[in-house]
Parts: sequence; structure tokens; C-alpha cells
Amino acid sequence: MRLTVLSTLLFAGTALAAGSVQAAGELNLICSADVVICEQMRGDFEKAHDIKVNMVRLSSGETYAKIRAEARNPKTDIWWAGTGDPHVQAASENLTLEYKSPMLDQLQDWARKQAESTGFKTVGVYAGALGWGYNTEIFKTKGYKEPRCWADLLAPELKGEIQIANPNSSGTAYTALASLVQIMGEDQAIDYLKKLNANVSQYTKSGSAPVKAAARGETALGIVFMHDAVAQTAEGFPVKSVAPCEGTGYEIGSMSIIKGARNLDNAKIWYDWALRPEVQSRMKDAKSFQLPSNKSAEVPKEAPKFEDIKLIDYDFKTYGDPAKRKALLERWDREVGAVAN
Ligand code: F6P
Repeated sequence: MRLTVLSTLLFAGTALAAGSVQAAGELNLICSADVVICEQMRGDFEKAHDIKVNMVRLSSGETYAKIRAEARNPKTDIWWAGTGDPHVQAASENLTLEYKSPMLDQLQDWARKQAESTGFKTVGVYAGALGWGYNTEIFKTKGYKEPRCWADLLAPELKGEIQIANPNSSGTAYTALASLVQIMGEDQAIDYLKKLNANVSQYTKSGSAPVKAAARGETALGIVFMHDAVAQTAEGFPVKSVAPCEGTGYEIGSMSIIKGARNLDNAKIWYDWALRPEVQSRMKDAKSFQLPSNKSAEVPKEAPKFEDIKLIDYDFKTYGDPAKRKALLERWDREVGAVAN
């Protein structure tokens, strides 16, 4: 009798433990998108699963630095969103884990390619093109010329009127740096950024902050992903988004499981869930207007259309290489950041 009770208890305990591995416990998440979508994703996930999500919002470059620093003792299970380059850099340094999600077949080619080219250590979750947003009221009142091209941003009248993030912390700004290098050549791009420096009032930590400042009239123009500019227009601010006439780069926003994740099963549950069409279709509710990676997800009507933008063939392999990142950022620090206003 005693034995039966004991074995029943043991069985129940084992079942509970097995269940808890699958669908309970915690998940330590770093979210590198806008805080509003980060909160929405966390809330939706917790509603659908018995898993508590401990979330931190950090910019892409900051996250990369954090997971590198914590490589021997990882505190993060999964890194959702943020530009692809630092995810690719983390993959090539073996900081992230190979995972072949059963959802891969449902993804756009560019998202699957991101997985295949990194040995399945990261995957594309959305895409978005780089450009800028400007405050139409400020431009009108001050009589500034409409800024359609990268070259227009050097106009002396725009002195102190532009913000862009710091490429060390922000994936957006790293994308801008790498895009300009690809469009102009490295020396010319650094020269361009040195000249632009005269017009930049602030290098922010987060990538989308410059256009939020432009929306509120704190600056005239923010160099950001176009979907972040569109989000401010959708909020009712007088912001116009621009796709630069010379051409521009783009991001494949990505997701990676951290090597050594303590809650690996839960990280995989998040990973598969975040690639689902209905989850990606919900992103627009948080005014996140990127192009979703699941082919069946709804493309927001506000999402800037790639067909209308002169996109470069962004070289993710070269600019996702850790040595290239280090070299470019050192040069930016020395020649641009060090002489910032
Ligand atoms: O705000 C959303 C977003 O632009 C994403 O599309 C992008 O991946 C991320 O922010 C980049 O943020 P940051 O430049 O701060 O790393």
C-alpha cells in the first residue's frame, strides 16, 4: 500500500518535472526591437504559455557585447530581434546555438538564407530598409530643402539638425555605416560621415531614438530604418520618411538562441512561436511595420515597400564578420566619434 502511494507520488512528480521542462518555468530574453513590440511579444507569449519571461530591452550592438562578455556564464536564453549583422557576428564566434526550427519551411528566402549561411545559428524574423524621417513642419518653417539623397544631408543649413545613433551600440547605425561603405567605398564613406558630423547634434544609443526626437520637434531629421519613421507618422506626428536617392541598405532582423542557455526548451518554444504567422501579423498592432519573415504573415499596409526603394545588394557575410565590425567601428570611433560635437 505504502509502495503504491509512494510510486503514485513519484510518478506524479516525474510527470510534473517532465511537464515543467516543456511548458513551464522561465525564459530570459533580450529584445532588441522597439520597447512597445517587445512588451507586446512578452505579453502574448506569456498568455499562450505557462512560462515567465524575464525581458531586457537592449540595442543590437549592446546585446552582442553583453552575450560576448557573458560567454562563459550565459544569463540569456534567447535574443529576439535587432539587426542581423551582430547576430551573424555572434554566430561566427559560436556564441549562439544551432537550431533547425520546424517553422523554417514557412519562411521567406531571405530569412531562411540567414539561417543556412550561419549553420542555423540565427534566423530572419523581419526585414526593413534604412532611410530617414524628417519633421515636415520644421523643414517648412525654416525653409529647408527636402532631403531626398544622402548628399542633401550635408547641406550647411542643416547644422545641428540631424540625429543618428552610435554604431557601437545601435544596429541601425552600424547598418548605416556598412551601407555607406558599400555605396561609396570605405574612405569616401568615412569622409562623408566626417562632414555629416557637422550637422549631427547627437549620437543616440538606440537606433530609433533620432526619429522619435524629430517627431517631437527636438531635431529636424533622424537617420533610421524607414519603418521607424513610418511608425511616427502613424502616431500622428508630422514625419515624412525618405528612401535615399543614391540607394540604401537594409536589415534582416534576426533571432538566436544563446549557447549555454539555461532554459533551452523554453527558448525553442519561443523561437518556433515567434516564427508563426499569427504572431508576426500582430506586430503591426505595436506599430512595428517591418516586413515579416513568415510567408503567410500579413504585410502591414504601412510597411515601406522594397520594390519602391533603391536597395543595395547588402553583403551580410562581409559586414557580419566580427573582424570587419571591429575594424569599421574602430575607424568610426577614431575619425568620427572622437570629433563629435
Ligand atoms: O525599432 C525597431 C528596430 O528598428 C528594428 O527594426 C531593428 O532591428 C532595431 O530597432 C534596431 O535597434 P538598434 O539600432 O537600437 O539596435
